[in-house]
Amino acid sequence: MAPIIKPGEIYSRFTLKNGTTAVIRGPNWNDLDGLLEYINGLVEERAQIVKSEKMTREAEADWLGQRLSEIESGQAIHLVAEVGGKIAGDATVGVLAGERGHTAYLGIGLSKGVRGLGLGKALMHALIELSKKAGLKILILDVFATNIAAIRLYEKVGFREVGRIPKGICRDGNYIDLVRMTTEL
Ligand SMILES: CC(C)(COP(=O)(O)OP(=O)(O)OC[C@H]1O[C@@H](n2cnc3c(N)ncnc32)[C@H](O)[C@@H]1OP(=O)(O)O)[C@@H](O)C(=O)NCCC(=O)NCCS
Repeated sequence: MAPIIKPGEIYSRFTLKNGTTAVIRGPNWNDLDGLLEYINGLVEERAQIVKSEKMTREAEADWLGQRLSEIESGQAIHLVAEVGGKIAGDATVGVLAGERGHTAYLGIGLSKGVRGLGLGKALMHALIELSKKAGLKILILDVFATNIAAIRLYEKVGFREVGRIPKGICRDGNYIDLVRMTTEL
């Protein structure tokens, strides 16, 4: 399958609720340091994501290389959001294989300074549109039960809880349920 959105290709320009402009586009190699700073920022603030250790530049480069090749082969759809020339977030869909090839896992995150401004919703709508274009039928995600902002966003764009793993996350000795949500495209 051909890439749905190519590395660096601009998907849209979007005006945030505070009036600044975000560019939503495919990532490319030049984004390595921006992506590294962004993901490590989320880890540092202890955002409710399933990543609790910082990435080294080398590990991030491996990850990005892998991701760019998955984009190229149509196994992944990946968008980054750039605000004021900096990577401020990303959103990704990873397509499953074989008899699960109509389904994909979705993940999204934004840097602290750009939350609550409509960017998450814009990225979700973009990924959903591109996933439909790619012929996908079901999107799946997992979210901490305590991540109310994320759950509200997912519900707003059509996701529903289909199950949960009680105590699926153990953070600092505290258990948190892991909620699974899906949407049919
Ligand atoms: C979750 C996240 C992607 C949401 O993106 P966002 O840009 O802040 O959300 P938006 O501004 O687009 O808001 C979309 C909807 O989500 C809900 N929402 C957003 N922030 C909220 C908050 N703090 N509390 C409750 N609901 C909230 C609202 O219903 C909002 O709809 P509205 O704009 O019509 O009122 C973002 O907060 C984030 O990246 N958090 C840290 C990383 C993370 O948790 N990733 C998800 C892991 S599963």
